[in-house]
Amino acid sequence: MPKVELHLHLEGAAPPKFIAGLAREKNIDLSKIFDRDGNYAYQGFAAFLQTYEAACTPLTSPEDFYRLTLAVLEETAKHGVVYAETFVSPDFCGGGDVGAWREYLDAMSRAASEAERDMGITLKGIVTAIRHFGPEQAKTAAKCAAETNGDFIVGFGMAGAEMEGRPKDFAYSFDMAREAGLPLTCHAGEWGGPDMVADTIRDLGVNRIGHGINAVADQNLLAEIVEKGIVLEVCPGSNVVLGAVSDWASHPIQKLRDAGVAVTVSTDDPPFFHTTMTYEYEMLAKTFGWDESDFAEIHQTALAAAYCNDATRAKIAKKLEPAK
Ligand code: ADE
Ligand code: ZN
Repeated sequence: MPKVELHLHLEGAAPPKFIAGLAREKNIDLSKIFDRDGNYAYQGFAAFLQTYEAACTPLTSPEDFYRLTLAVLEETAKHGVVYAETFVSPDFCGGGDVGAWREYLDAMSRAASEAERDMGITLKGIVTAIRHFGPEQAKTAAKCAAETNGDFIVGFGMAGAEMEGRPKDFAYSFDMAREAGLPLTCHAGEWGGPDMVADTIRDLGVNRIGHGINAVADQNLLAEIVEKGIVLEVCPGSNVVLGAVSDWASHPIQKLRDAGVAVTVSTDDPPFFHTTMTYEYEMLAKTFGWDESDFAEIHQTALAAAYCNDATRAKIAKKLEPAK
């Protein structure tokens, strides 16, 4: 099935072979982040974030991000994804300098245009602050977002260590991005409880939440999410591998749907979690009995929640129509 993926970290989707090759070219020793089979090696969320950041160290130029974007889109398109939104961080692209950021962005959007032409996949970017880099650094990411809102950049968000600080600490950055016209999403309720999701909605004014799964513990919050039409970017395979849930059977995605919450399905950082969109779908079918009509509903939810403009939305809608 043609698919829509809203929650995909560009660096986190980097094939390990690609990062290992780039490290070799630059004489950077990254052997400690790979296991014997050449996969990313870490245990638990804190180590995941460290490994992720180490894997970013060979990515030092716009040309590197051009190649990264193509490598990621090749993998993503293989699984039928026709539209994806990817989190991109100025922190890893010039350190928050707007001039440098523009150069990285040019490279990524050039790769996206080529992939659209050659692989039939459309990619848009969501500028992403990294929470554990702190509120001041988040402002530089928001400034980059505000300055480059346009054809490729369609939103602003925040990832990173959820339990560092409270959402309101980042309100200035989210306000800046909103005032520049960008829609907003933020990781919350992956590790934090319903209070974190509630504060993220109220203090940051997001209309999507990354993960959001722990909202399931609070009926009133679920009602608020439904009422406000907030969409969850759920990444079940990521949650299982990082230990946010104990296994597929106890993942709350079906409970969230049953409560009327708009959910979508994504891979987050596919090679880190040994997942693909195909695998996520297979596991959802196996665990919860989802069939084509369930997945079609998920696609419509995702497309409606996508941050692209309506011309792009209409183009993707055509690709999602069942073959006659
Ligand atoms: N950055 C990349 N993947 C992430 C995740 N699952 N949670 C928080 N930050 C991330
Ligand atoms: Zn994520």
